[in-house]
Amino acid sequence: MSEPRLRAKEWDAADGLAAKRAEFVLDEGDGGSGGGSGGEAVYLDGNSLGALPVAVPGRVEDVVRRQWGALRIRSWTESGWWTAPERIGDRIAPLVGAAAGQIVVGDSTSVNVFKAVVGAVRLARSADGAAGPARDEIVVDATTFPTDGYIAESAARMTGCTLRPVPPSDIPDALGDRTAAVLLNHVDYRTGRLHDLPALTAAVHAAGAYVVWDLCHSAGALPVGLDEHGVDLAVGCTYKYLNGGPGAPAYLYVRAELQDRFDSPLPGWNSHAEPFGMRPEYAPAPGALRGRVGTPDILSMLALEAALDVWDGVTVEAVRAKSLALTDFFLECVEAYVPEGRVECLTPRPHGERGSQIALRCPDAGDVMKRLIERGVVGDFRHPDVLRFGFTPLYVGFADTERAARVLAEVLAETGA
Ligand SMILES: Cc1ncc(COP(=O)(O)O)c(C=O)c1O
Repeated sequence: MSEPRLRAKEWDAADGLAAKRAEFVLDEGDGGSGGGSGGEAVYLDGNSLGALPVAVPGRVEDVVRRQWGALRIRSWTESGWWTAPERIGDRIAPLVGAAAGQIVVGDSTSVNVFKAVVGAVRLARSADGAAGPARDEIVVDATTFPTDGYIAESAARMTGCTLRPVPPSDIPDALGDRTAAVLLNHVDYRTGRLHDLPALTAAVHAAGAYVVWDLCHSAGALPVGLDEHGVDLAVGCTYKYLNGGPGAPAYLYVRAELQDRFDSPLPGWNSHAEPFGMRPEYAPAPGALRGRVGTPDILSMLALEAALDVWDGVTVEAVRAKSLALTDFFLECVEAYVPEGRVECLTPRPHGERGSQIALRCPDAGDVMKRLIERGVVGDFRHPDVLRFGFTPLYVGFADTERAARVLAEVLAETGA
């Protein structure tokens, strides 16, 4: 057995998170055997869709058969359906460094980006008052995931703002007394670059503006520290590192001190102070539930709640330490196995700038990923030339990582661009 394979075996044996793997449904034979190149899959796409936690199907069955089938309408109170958005928000809170009472779960990330960006512009204007500067700019990360850019553009039109796309590293210089809101990604979805949340948040605040962070690629993979760093608003999905399932509802964080002034652009009856009062006038509820809109998507929300049980006894710090060890090891193996120049790593080397994925550029990335998947190494391809490999420390091991690099080298040797 080669030296990296031996090391992988030792590290898997010593891994404090290794037992968590049994809490997920993974392919038969998966499990750090580091065996041949065929057969069992190595799942490196948890940054797109997290694997299924073993407990979820049973819970969903109970929700459908007993809570819905037998209790029917009584479940809104007796099964805790009505309060699920805040309750599950409080389960997510410690994973992103937030105290309870600041997160509600529901809607998609895209919808929550809309609520947060328009809400941030309104917060900026209400803080300044009529005598303040005319804040008429929304700054958006120029490398953003497309939906954030589309929604920020629409939010800008609706609020009479101009949208300024700016690369994250240039954002401090782009801020001023015209800036109302800034929308940023914590980890870049293509390159896996981790942006400096504390420094950028402080820069936005120094300009008197409000920041919205998109945590889709960081929540559940690394410490976020929303409260510690004074973040104003944040959104994120739950189907990647939080393993909530396809289309699982997203979440919205509104910092406690801002909740009274948070003026949602989607004031539905679920965020009314008295939802069953059925009043014609809107009066917002206090607290985080001001971020709610309509009837919660109970089935997927309760699947997410069951999925969050895998976090029992796990710290995000331990997940982060393993994530960095896995991505370091993957890079080391790629360097050892793949001929120089065949791929270019887009993910920064410094730990402080790296999320939980490795992105490699190669001209024939689409074809390479197809062949990798055929051989059981499941990552994904991002147009036009990026191979993405996501490392979910709760179920990816070191032998998986070594094997992924080895199979990648085999495929690259065959395809030779
Ligand atoms: C960074 C980022 N933001 C937003 C989204 C879109 O989320 P949704 O489909 O939940 O609206 C994604 C989806 O992958 C994403 O990666």
